Amino acid sequence: MTDLLLLPGDGIGPEVIEQVRRVAGRLTNDLVLDERDFGGKSFDLHGAPLTDEALATAKASKAVLMGAVGGPQWADAPRDKRPEAGLLGLRTGMQVFANLRPALCFQPLADASSLKREVIEGLDFMIVRELTGGVYFGQPRFIEDLPDGSQRAVDTQVYTTAEIERVARVAFELARGRRNKVHSAEKSNVMETGLLWRRVVTALHQREYPDVELEHILADNAAMQIVKNPKQFDVMVTDNLFGDVLSDISAQLTGSMGMLPSAALGAPGMPGLYEPIHGSAPDIAGQGIANPLAAILSFEMALRWSLGRAEVADRLYAAVQRALENGARTPDLGGKLTTHQMGDAVLAEL
Ligand code: IPM
Ligand code: MG
Repeated sequence: MTDLLLLPGDGIGPEVIEQVRRVAGRLTNDLVLDERDFGGKSFDLHGAPLTDEALATAKASKAVLMGAVGGPQWADAPRDKRPEAGLLGLRTGMQVFANLRPALCFQPLADASSLKREVIEGLDFMIVRELTGGVYFGQPRFIEDLPDGSQRAVDTQVYTTAEIERVARVAFELARGRRNKVHSAEKSNVMETGLLWRRVVTALHQREYPDVELEHILADNAAMQIVKNPKQFDVMVTDNLFGDVLSDISAQLTGSMGMLPSAALGAPGMPGLYEPIHGSAPDIAGQGIANPLAAILSFEMALRWSLGRAEVADRLYAAVQRALENGARTPDLGGKLTTHQMGDAVLAEL
């Protein structure tokens, strides 16, 4: 059985996943790795961004680690053939409905943020983004021609009680192991899905998690509070679209998108999907200067959450910390190291 399926994908994906391979090789000698084409690369080679075989292999693995998908060369492909469709198909195919996106300020990088040091120093909060529902998948969705020659586009935002409840449960459980506080972000002031979201979260809280502090917050206000006073947050649960936006804001707080990992989890015992939050970064792809730490830290999360190797994960996390303390910096962090040299820096600490 494959422990970890690697899906390097497009853009800087293969470059950063290469460093994960090196780190994995140093840390363990019994981890069974496998690899498949994914995203635009898979489309070019096999005619689909995610082949049935790759999805079946993903579902049969203990964990899946993705690099990145997408790039300008596929911008005009039909929507279901685009690299992003491969990623969405992987998320729904694996039924990983809860996306954990940490916003964490690494101490040595406190000055790399565009915000003042005192605002972000010590920051540690977690966005739990609903990942397999909402407007990303709601039907109907189409663009139609109107009699006057113009067009009309429709997307559908849809959530069921069960979808809201299962992701909120993940947030409450996480909070219990952290600082015991959940913010639930929606737009119940204008959206029906927001109203249902608030009701379901409230009911679940009363029924099963009265010991956890719960605050409802409107998603636009959440965006403002994240840049104003991010340290007030512990766990924030929100829908797919708001989570997409709020997690980019939160990632940038910490200095660089190149630092942050994520984990997408489904039902207990099912394989998790791990991805760096950064995208394929076509502007720097192929130059060997991408920061591999988000991918390495995604591997760290996989070791911890899906592969049952928390001790190895601890060692890896400490090695990344020390590499940063000793000044290892890729260009996104204001330094000069190449992707490979950043990999060297972590290996040296191991
Ligand atoms: C993300 C990305 C994806 C998303 C894209 C690549 C489909 O932005 O993981 O945040 O919108 O979910
Ligand atoms: Mg995004």
